[in-house]
Amino acid sequence: MSFPIPTLSREQGELRLEDVALNDIAARFGTPTFVYSARAMREAYAAYAEALSGVPSQVCYAVKANSNLAVLGLFARLGAGFDIVSGGELARVLAAGGQADRVVFSGVGKSAAEIEQALSAGIQCFNIESRAELARIAAIASRLGRTAPVAFRVNPAVDPKTHPYISTGLRSNKFGVDFDEAFELYREAARQPALRVSGIACHIGSQLLDPAPVAEAAEKVLGLVDRLSDEGIALDHIDLGGGLGIRYDDESPPSVADYLAPLLARYGTRRETLCFEPGRSLVGNAGLLLTKVELLKHGVEKNFAVVDAAMNDLARPALYDAYHAAVPVSTRAEATTRRYDIVGPICESGDFLARERDLALADGDLIALLSAGAYGMTMSSNYNTRPRAAEVLVDGSRTFVARDRETVASLLRHEHALPSDF
Ligand code: LLP
Repeated sequence: MSFPIPTLSREQGELRLEDVALNDIAARFGTPTFVYSARAMREAYAAYAEALSGVPSQVCYAVKANSNLAVLGLFARLGAGFDIVSGGELARVLAAGGQADRVVFSGVGKSAAEIEQALSAGIQCFNIESRAELARIAAIASRLGRTAPVAFRVNPAVDPKTHPYISTGLRSNKFGVDFDEAFELYREAARQPALRVSGIACHIGSQLLDPAPVAEAAEKVLGLVDRLSDEGIALDHIDLGGGLGIRYDDESPPSVADYLAPLLARYGTRRETLCFEPGRSLVGNAGLLLTKVELLKHGVEKNFAVVDAAMNDLARPALYDAYHAAVPVSTRAEATTRRYDIVGPICESGDFLARERDLALADGDLIALLSAGAYGMTMSSNYNTRPRAAEVLVDGSRTFVARDRETVASLLRHEHALPSDF
């Protein structure tokens, strides 16, 4: 089967991302390193832009998927807006050259400081997730003498049929306002002079492989928009969130065009701007985690390949039992193929990156863990005092260090040894 990363290939036995050999990346920048393909990101973005070319539309890249400044800059240059969930992410978007007036701010717990920061920056819209937040944003905007553009994130109570940890549109989830309450909340918001009702938002989950639940949610949202319009509350945008899944293993996700087709058919020639907040489908299969085999451990029951990356670098396998393909960077004819668990050096049994993979390996070999461009680096940690990996962006034959590898000294800089007088 082909690699899920479209710009990854094997030539004369060696893996290359675009025109760069992964062996060279490891030799120049060390391991573990996240490596991203600019071309794969541009192609993924172009698929949305093309599919949406017939309607007024906006793609707001979900920053949480991969928030590296170079990645944000690449999408900003392509004309993307951004979906953020913190003041920190807003700062990143601005530092990367993104425009504040193309930023939508989601999240259930925006602090007063974050709301002020976003108002001062002049973001496009707050996606409000509760009645309490409505009051908080109105009070802050009024105190600052500003008008806050707002949308409600509605919870359409649709089952997205994905992993329970990444479903967000069920009644039992903490996200969004209850669909049946939304109408009344809009009327309340419309009465507040410090608010400008601007849109509606909905995001039902992530790694969605079936377009039907999203189309069902859209149907409900559009019905509500029409009821609001009858009430004299006209919205300028309809944001249907992110969620389109990618291939990690043998999944066959719909193409962007097929995913959007039922929505666009239903959307027709409406005048509101149709927004999406894709994260994973823009960057997931544009990245891999390059790691080196420290040693092989052949046990009675299991063989382990202990590598220099760990759950602190790529948390998805430990957290969701997620699958990432593990591909040797160089093919090795002479080694015996064995069934390996690929594990990190962290002191946790959950510290695995891949399980039961048949591989021919030797000490020092490089392995690429594929589909690691989304929710890889952004969910990494320093557990076990492990400096975080470097990030390298490849564009054709060029490489760009988008993040230096952390050092232990850089980790300790934030801490203070106990002074003798304490
Ligand atoms: N918009 C909102 C409001 C979201 O909560 C999310 C993701 C997105 C957009 C982007 O969704 P995407 O297109 O990436 O599916 N850490 C998990 C995924 C968590 C997704 C959280 N929300 C993972 O590694 O699978």
